[in-house]
Amino acid sequence: MTDPVVRDVAPSTEAFLEAVCAGLTADPKTLPCKFLYDETGARLFEAICTLDEYYPTRTELSILMQHAAEMAAELGPHVRLVEPGSGSLQKVRFLLDHLTDPVDFVPIDISLEQLTEEARQVAVDFPGIDVHPVCADYTAGFSLPEVPDQAARTVVFFPGSTIGNLEPGEAREFLERMAQVVGPRGAILLGVDLKKDLDVLHAAYDDAAGVTAAFNKNLLARINRELDADFDLASFEHSARYEAAPSRMVLELVSTREQRVSIAGTAFRFAAGEPIRTEYSHKPSHADVVAMAAATGLAVRRCWTDARAWFGVFLLERAA
Ligand code: AVJ
Repeated sequence: MTDPVVRDVAPSTEAFLEAVCAGLTADPKTLPCKFLYDETGARLFEAICTLDEYYPTRTELSILMQHAAEMAAELGPHVRLVEPGSGSLQKVRFLLDHLTDPVDFVPIDISLEQLTEEARQVAVDFPGIDVHPVCADYTAGFSLPEVPDQAARTVVFFPGSTIGNLEPGEAREFLERMAQVVGPRGAILLGVDLKKDLDVLHAAYDDAAGVTAAFNKNLLARINRELDADFDLASFEHSARYEAAPSRMVLELVSTREQRVSIAGTAFRFAAGEPIRTEYSHKPSHADVVAMAAATGLAVRRCWTDARAWFGVFLLERAA
């Protein structure tokens, strides 16, 4: 394994402050969801993944466990596998276990430490595969190492329903960029949390133990910590509500009273009941995914799902 391709990717405090001020000046107020995942946020998200109410992680894992061999067969031999936002590299192992002579694995992640450690472990566990980690914020675009001569095709693996965070236009742009990365003969393996009973969704995004509420509120705590701000965490409430068109959960922090918050010397006013939107989690139907793929010149070649059809792993290829 070669050394990780390191770039300076940690968003600066200035960029964070700028994004926060822009979001809180907008109407309605928003904060970019990517800032939810600092060290505390990442730890809280891992706790969310183990909650009884939070079905997506274990449902996707069960699909991968059950169907990875079939997925690998569809992808064919000698693939170069690229994973944007690879994190713990847990899910991709199911694929690597079954792929026939994969030539190259390119995990891309913003956390250099985790990336280096996890990539090294994959290289140890799969000695036949070249591992080329790239440290980058994949949402900002990235360039990849050269395609090895032996690679039959490039496959992007994007599990976790992370695409559900993006607004419809952004999701289309993201898919378009991934289609460009894999080229005409490539493929995208996309994990998508699907539309389902609203009770299940509400429980998953407003759990009884309050872990999701703590995850959401950590964003305000982080702003206090890093940007010299004075959010009173006790006067903001976690809210998770469903919107029908497009089908999605909307996570917000609602000001319970009229108040003023100072961030790096600038004052922001909140009315009683005023929300800050912190995250979207889209829940498309199977047909919605087909339509989104079609809008970017891609076709759904296969979809693997669980018995309740709560989650889908979609194989997308260039439409004929
Ligand atoms: C990491 C975006 C897939 O939308 O379900 C979980 C994030 N937010 N609970 C999701 C999240 C609150 C999660 N994704």
